[in-house]
Amino acid sequence: MDYGLEQKKYYIKTYGCQMNFFDSEVLAGHLENMGYLPAERKEEADVFIVNTCAVRKKAEEKVLSKLGRLRVLKEKNPGMIIAVCGCMIQQKGVARRIKDRFHFINLICGTHALGRFPQLLEKALHSAEPVLDLDTENSREHLPVKREDTLKAWVPISQGCNNYCTYCIVPYVRGPEKSRPPESIIQEIKKLAKNGYKEVTLLGQNVNSYGHDLYGDFGFAELLEEVDKIEGLLRIRFMTSHPKDISEKLIKVIANSDKICEHIHLPLQAGSNKVLKLMNRGYTKEHYLELVDKIKNTIPGCSLTTDIITGFPGEEDNVFEETLQALERIRFDAAFIFVYSPRQGTDAAEMANQVDAAIKKRRVMVINELQNRISLEKNQELLNKELEILVEGISKTDPHVYTGRTRTNKIVHFTTTKKCLGELLKIKIVEAKSWTLFGKLSQ
Ligand code: 5AD
Ligand code: SF4
Repeated sequence: MDYGLEQKKYYIKTYGCQMNFFDSEVLAGHLENMGYLPAERKEEADVFIVNTCAVRKKAEEKVLSKLGRLRVLKEKNPGMIIAVCGCMIQQKGVARRIKDRFHFINLICGTHALGRFPQLLEKALHSAEPVLDLDTENSREHLPVKREDTLKAWVPISQGCNNYCTYCIVPYVRGPEKSRPPESIIQEIKKLAKNGYKEVTLLGQNVNSYGHDLYGDFGFAELLEEVDKIEGLLRIRFMTSHPKDISEKLIKVIANSDKICEHIHLPLQAGSNKVLKLMNRGYTKEHYLELVDKIKNTIPGCSLTTDIITGFPGEEDNVFEETLQALERIRFDAAFIFVYSPRQGTDAAEMANQVDAAIKKRRVMVINELQNRISLEKNQELLNKELEILVEGISKTDPHVYTGRTRTNKIVHFTTTKKCLGELLKIKIVEAKSWTLFGKLSQ
């Protein structure tokens, strides 16, 4: 007999950055506390959440097309609660536009509403009208987290950003930078280590300015020193670093630690001082190059990855060339290349000399080609070397094919019949591609 006790299920579709993926783990935590279980297929979901991203137009277009497709799902299952959350909602006017265009959505709330989600969902469950929450009150302490992974954990150390790079929507949608108290971060990581987690990644829009809004003399380097002392952890990672805020002390702390991995994601964004200034990045090309030298000299074998935006207003051909030259000079291990996307409300969207779409498209191809060659060459330098890998995953199609990462954050595939998930292994690199390495278990 059906007593109406059938288990309720949820499904979350996440767009965007690691911070957003972490927020989805909090949403999942709330839902599990409310008695929901994850749905294997989206059709089974009683609650379907779309966690949106606003950083580029392309991400927004993907969300809008997803919402269009959800209309069909909702027609088949009218009882399904559809919630749209995340950065896109926090943009001016967007929540109302979504509400007017997609009548079937039950709940619309931004990133600031994360702590209030259970109450909002309850309200949506009992309301014929869509529930909207655009309140900027934002408390993120003591939220439940249902982590996707059992080995690696994301740990936000701050929220928001004060930098106002002129292209970026983040300070508008995530608000000003707010650091979490160090005690709360340390306590959380201690618990993770006790529960068997081997790796943590400390997350912030700009981890290097961590703590400026708290005590002043306890910054990111000091936080890392404390995290480094936690027993049981094997690896500590962090992102994203800002070139204007990396301190000498931080570089030394990384160099002196066995657990902090030798990898820094250090967005350069552009290789010309003219564009860096227009972007309000707060550093020059010379400063960045000096920093790279300091890092390479102090942390042996440190890998560097970056973000580049091409097609920023005022990027003429010769200015673009400077970015290519910088990439040749620095030789990043990997780079994420983005076409500049004007975001409403940001300064750059109003700038003169916007670059033609066809030129942007061509430039992104040119940079990718260059960087793929450099990444391949850098990976080829690792051939026949034995590297320490943390084994993170098993192939879905072959249970003997494992995937791990080097300390420098490179992905390595290898085959073994030995069960080794979660172990640190020595792997000899036998094949190198631009984005992945292939290895053999060392005897
Ligand atoms: N257009 C293109 N790329 C952007 N990014 C941020 N804002 C924009 C934008 N408006 C890129 C930056 C940042 C990364 C996360 O996204 O390179 O480092
Ligand atoms: Fe955006 Fe700049 Fe802040 Fe990064 S540092 S989130 S690019 S404003």
